[in-house]
Amino acid sequence: MRLTCTVNGEQRHADDVWPGESLLFVLRERLGLPGSKNACEQGECGSCTVYLDGQAVCACLVAAGQAEGREVVTVEGLSPGGELDPVQRAFLDAGAVQCGFCTPGLVVAVHDLLAANPHPTDPEIREALAGNLCRCTGYEKIMDAVRMAEAS
Ligand code: FES
Ligand code: FES
Repeated sequence: MRLTCTVNGEQRHADDVWPGESLLFVLRERLGLPGSKNACEQGECGSCTVYLDGQAVCACLVAAGQAEGREVVTVEGLSPGGELDPVQRAFLDAGAVQCGFCTPGLVVAVHDLLAANPHPTDPEIREALAGNLCRCTGYEKIMDAVRMAEAS
């Protein structure tokens, strides 16, 4: 099938797409957007989190065919023109990035959290990020990044 959807504000096409392949595969391998990471491919780690019609989803669990005609925003789309989103800036400033594999998904998840709840409590942050796994940081720097982002 030919897949047509809006990605980061631009209409994009991908040809020869198998409808059952994942949106994550389409983004990374067909559309040249490697920001969303592929760690588990099972909806367990959150490293592939993107917005689909404004809702944060695991792109590895979305079939490409489900994205037809819809609007996708990836972590790349949060920094149009290369200007970092405050959440991205906060992750850097807080030192919340080590290997970085979890970071794109966390950035989208935090962006989503703060859009809905600009001043979350610590338990609310932990709950919102429960689906995003990080093997490196111990999460405290990530909590710092969220607090910095909400203050900016
Ligand atoms: S790669 Fe999608 S949740 Fe892990
Ligand atoms: S920084 Fe390595 S998994 Fe989070």
